Amino acid sequence: MKKLLIKNIGILATPLGSSARGGEAQGAVQMTKNAWVLAEDGVIAQVGEGTPPAAADAQVLDAGGNLVTPGLVDAHTHLIFGGWRQNELGLKLHGKSYLEIQNAGGGIQSTTNATRLASVEELARKAERALDEMMSFGTTTCEAKSGYGLAAEHELKALQVIRDLDRRHPMDIAATFMGAHLVPAEYKERREEYVRLVCEEMLPLVREQGIAKFCDVFCEADTFTVEESRRILEAGKRYGLTPKIHADEIEAIGGSQLAGEVGAISAEHLIVCPQEGIDSMAKGGTVACLLPATSFYLGADFAPAKQFQQAGVPVAMATDFNPGSCPCLNIQLVINLGCLKYRFTPEEVLTAVTLNAAAAIGMADKVGTVEPGKQADLVLWDAPDLDYICYRMGSNLVRQVIKKGSPV
Ligand code: NIG
Ligand code: FE
Repeated sequence: MKKLLIKNIGILATPLGSSARGGEAQGAVQMTKNAWVLAEDGVIAQVGEGTPPAAADAQVLDAGGNLVTPGLVDAHTHLIFGGWRQNELGLKLHGKSYLEIQNAGGGIQSTTNATRLASVEELARKAERALDEMMSFGTTTCEAKSGYGLAAEHELKALQVIRDLDRRHPMDIAATFMGAHLVPAEYKERREEYVRLVCEEMLPLVREQGIAKFCDVFCEADTFTVEESRRILEAGKRYGLTPKIHADEIEAIGGSQLAGEVGAISAEHLIVCPQEGIDSMAKGGTVACLLPATSFYLGADFAPAKQFQQAGVPVAMATDFNPGSCPCLNIQLVINLGCLKYRFTPEEVLTAVTLNAAAAIGMADKVGTVEPGKQADLVLWDAPDLDYICYRMGSNLVRQVIKKGSPV
């Protein structure tokens, strides 16, 4: 049996349980001083306070009196894409909006062109580097979407890359099919045909290959309407995929209401989410997955995080890593913004990037807290306490990442 003992933990900060925490409970983080954690075969076996057990056969890591938390969970990334879009920075500086750039053939369409040209090997190499970087910042589990293929062949290519990386990279990856990220240029005048292609051709293939867990739609003005999104998410359900939805990022066209109605596991962005959307999500048991680094990067408003909390909706926070609206892999920046822009406490933010994020990708029974029975995914920080990692900005404060009981 492979054992790992982490001793001399100054503070072990972790939420508890295996389901999302909303309202006041979001801030209920257990802080244990002078703690230790024993992992056996990749799983947390014991957590204690004071003198650690004598474990002669264990590898021992000394946390040096520092903070330890669960491994962080990045519940929203567009990991697989060809090229980058640095050319759009100049356009933005000249006043072009996100949707203007998209409608002029930039944005998602230009990344789609590059992704279609990229080979499986190229996409895998690039995504692997991104995963390495994410892990260096403390992320031990993530979600990854397709959505830059927008044709059966290329959507499946992206999902295959995700599946292969999940198998060979230490990161656990939950795969999301997002064939409805944009109506691609060749279907511009035939959008109904594209919606049918997603529902009747792509989804059956995704199901057949058992290659995704979630189905996501970009429900937005100029992308997919509420009715199209509903059709796609309902079709996804029939093929065994749990709904997720990009809603209310730019215009409130009804995406968050739809999230609750279709029982989406999470709704993402929600920058301009109206109260009806919040209420619908509360009723539907949907996690609000907020993406503050995207708001920052777009120069947009920040989602009404406190209103979700007041309604008891659990809040998760994630990077939204993608080549357009948020080319950022560092979830520590999300932690900073979660406090400074959403006004969440460090405890509430920790829950947002661990337990609630795990719940947003259906993995809260396995990751997101430090408790016996959970996977031994932990971060040893170069920080004395939780406040410190929320307060410092721009440095990588990770000292050691532990994945399935092994130092990475
Ligand atoms: O979550 N909003 C839709 N999709 C991404 C951006 C995609 C892109 O610009 O390439 C997002 O922000
Ligand atoms: Fe996104």
